Amino acid sequence: QQSIRIAPSILSADFARLGEEVRAMDAAGADYIHVDVMDGHFVPNITIGPSIVAALRPHTKKTFDVHLMIAPVDPFIEGFAKAGADIISLHPEAGPHLHRSLQTIKGHGVKAGVVLNPATPISAVETVIDMVDLILVMSVNPGFGGQSFITSQLEKIASLRKLIDSSGRAIDLEVDGGINLETAPRAIAAGADVLVAGTASFTGGANAYARNIEQLRGGG
Ligand code: DX5
Ligand code: ZN
Repeated sequence: QQSIRIAPSILSADFARLGEEVRAMDAAGADYIHVDVMDGHFVPNITIGPSIVAALRPHTKKTFDVHLMIAPVDPFIEGFAKAGADIISLHPEAGPHLHRSLQTIKGHGVKAGVVLNPATPISAVETVIDMVDLILVMSVNPGFGGQSFITSQLEKIASLRKLIDSSGRAIDLEVDGGINLETAPRAIAAGADVLVAGTASFTGGANAYARNIEQLRGGG
């Protein structure tokens, strides 16, 4: 298995100092910068749009892992691609034609991900597995940081690990929601190789970021 990558979610950053926060996470060893995009419609919260992603782009060369929680999602794919997203992930429930949405993402030269909500079955991604670069398992219901990890998703992670391995493709298996020092090792043991962490990565101020990341990665 590939080494564990950590994707701090800027949802837990200080929004008044986002550029600084992203630079601090870059310096602290973050692998991806996870960007949570919410529309107040698909999920009950509103966050940021493509212009913020574009504004952050000059602050880091790290992978921008953009998680779209918006519906309809299709009209916004191009905007996030042009803003500098490296990976764009969407929920199958966010549009009528998942295959077409993934084609659109790939057409912009961006990696494509599918996100499975806690109640969304693995079968939602099975038929498009040949197109995806990342599968994101939600271990909370999307909308807010700081929620508790839903342990029933560990089984889903383990099943997806088998599916990915048997596909023979290089697909990231990412987990998002309630990741902390207790749940991170369990997600890793189940087969995840990318951990999103909001609260747990941004805690303690910028001086603590590097240690937070190393601890989540399992480096002690
Ligand atoms: C939830 C978001 C998550 C969230 C994670 O809808 O997709 O990325 O920011 O936050 P924590 O790590 O605090 O659960
Ligand atoms: Zn997210």
